[in-house]
Amino acid sequence: MYELTTVDEVRRRRRADEGATWGLVPTMGFLHDGHLALVERARRENDRVAVSLFVNPTQFGQPEDLERYPRDPERDLALLREAGADVAFSPAPEEIYPSGFQTYVNVEEVSLPLEGASRPGHFRGVATVVAKLFLQCMPDFAMFGEKDYQQLAVIRRMVADLNIPVDIIGVATVREADGLAMSSRNAYLMPEERSKAPALFKAISGAADAISKGGDVAAAVAAAREKIRDAGFGKVDYVEARHAETLAPLGSHDEPGRILAAAQLGRARLIDNVAIPR
Ligand code: PAJ
Repeated sequence: MYELTTVDEVRRRRRADEGATWGLVPTMGFLHDGHLALVERARRENDRVAVSLFVNPTQFGQPEDLERYPRDPERDLALLREAGADVAFSPAPEEIYPSGFQTYVNVEEVSLPLEGASRPGHFRGVATVVAKLFLQCMPDFAMFGEKDYQQLAVIRRMVADLNIPVDIIGVATVREADGLAMSSRNAYLMPEERSKAPALFKAISGAADAISKGGDVAAAVAAAREKIRDAGFGKVDYVEARHAETLAPLGSHDEPGRILAAAQLGRARLIDNVAIPR
């Protein structure tokens, strides 16, 4: 596995691989089985698999949040070697944001609700770094998790709007045995909080089920919100039923729908989403 840290090295490697397809898996490191599912998917569909590991400062709101983001670069590289990745790209922040940096990618409407409302500027940071990684690595495919469902929608929109020649592949959320979506941020949970955490997935699954059986959307969402509160979560940022592609408020039971939620549990802010079965 090539362990690269500069854009120059990545470009040289990409050129040396001309004619081979590259699948890129952008990550912020502290890898878990969710990330590795993306690597496996990339492995199946490409000649080469590149994984970027970069805790992207521009997508964080509070500096404390960025500083305490969990990191374990040595373990990450070992996991990637084992998973059969060909390239690990771990740039320093100055490599991605040299002094004087002032160009950002702003995907407008789809960035505004949900995570965008709770974390202003977040998707601007995500879109910018992903656009840069695409230009640096020139992948044929890029894998993103449905775990960050709105992020996937933002990236799809950006790629379509800017004619970026990368196929975006969405991969189903990998969960712990009790239903909790895997996340690097789960490391923040104390044991007692960890046992409450699956209530988020249970609550939104219940709402999705109720809506798919013809139940009232607003009532189902309100019930889920209450279950999350009752389970011992702190602030519930949102629980919403949205159109699965546009993320506009769900108009009718006939549209493809998704329930998305975010809530605070101890020091961790957990997000999750599920499809409304049809
Ligand atoms: P990060 O949170 O490290 O996630 C990297 C990728 O792994 C994302 O596409 C995310 O959706 C996916 N992922 C995380 N948990 C998952 C799970 N349980 N099941 C399936 N996929 C999962 O998302 C980011 O980093 C950043 O915003 C990034 C895109 C790298 C830009 O900085």
